[in-house]
Amino acid sequence: MKVGVIGAGMMGAGIAQVSAAAGHQVVLSDVDVARAEAGKAATAKLLARQVAKGALDQAAAEALLAQITPRGDADGFGDADIVVEAATENEGLKQKIFAGLAGKLSAQCVLATNTSSISITMLAAATDRPDRFVGLHFFNPVPVMKLVEIIPGLATSDATRSAARGYIDTLGKTAIVSEDSPSFIVNRVLCPMLNEAIFALGDGVGSVVDIDTGLRLGANHPMGPLTLADFVGLDTLHAIMLVMQKATGDPKYRPAPLLSKYVEAGWYGRKTGRGFYDYSGETPVPTR
Ligand code: 3HC
Repeated sequence: MKVGVIGAGMMGAGIAQVSAAAGHQVVLSDVDVARAEAGKAATAKLLARQVAKGALDQAAAEALLAQITPRGDADGFGDADIVVEAATENEGLKQKIFAGLAGKLSAQCVLATNTSSISITMLAAATDRPDRFVGLHFFNPVPVMKLVEIIPGLATSDATRSAARGYIDTLGKTAIVSEDSPSFIVNRVLCPMLNEAIFALGDGVGSVVDIDTGLRLGANHPMGPLTLADFVGLDTLHAIMLVMQKATGDPKYRPAPLLSKYVEAGWYGRKTGRGFYDYSGETPVPTR
């Protein structure tokens, strides 16, 4: 298969990596080629770690990387079987990207979005192919997380659903199907839990370390909720909560005030070096 990926951030680079690992040719695009190359370089670094650990041989890592072509435009998607959009979680931006793809994809190409919360039906309407449009929601870190949610929109055809499932099968991941409801299945449950942990922190119920240790050891979560929020990105979590609040009108989904404050400060978590932990040193240091 030939796979196109739009957005070379954490998610896009991960989707490119697992697609290449499945033997697909991948075009990884971003707003400029330097960003696309940076996404590929991040993958190269992860693979180098696997090689150093003896989990992957050097030749396999090189072969995988050779299958990923970075680009600064959408002109390499003409013969793609599937294009997965993994740009920032912003409705207007995604709609603009889809409008810009018109005429650049083959008639049969499936277009997918990795949105974590936005209506698939609404995004489909901004494309030239609502019947060949589908939500494919990957989880971070993509190479490790075994799940992908498939979210058909109102107009998604049966052929598109099975093409999407076929692609996910090639990646060796487990697919579940969610209705096109705000935040789908996993984030609908997970994000309010992360938001609640931030409410608890803001209310002074416990420290960063105690809240995280509580959920790690008391509920067997692999990461505490504040560590996970920093990992997902506080800007992304904030955007997801706003989508849920707006779509449902239910105040239970309002972002925790402390989350909004951190986003206003530009403290987005691990990617900016500061969130509920400070990541500037060797080990993360709690900030509260
Ligand atoms: N990218 C790629 N691989 C990674 C990675 C990363 N960022 N971080 C860790 N890994 C790999 C390691 O290389 C290692 O691989 P190996 O077993 O082949 O050697 C394996 O994962 C385990 O890593 P570690 O031993 O270093 O660390 P942990 O055992 O603590 O696991 C973790 C790290 C897998 C990230 C684990 O802490 C975890 O599962 N955390 C929860 C992640 C989660 O909930 N993700 C979902 C977020 S929600 C989301 O993505 C939806 C979005 O819409 C918001």
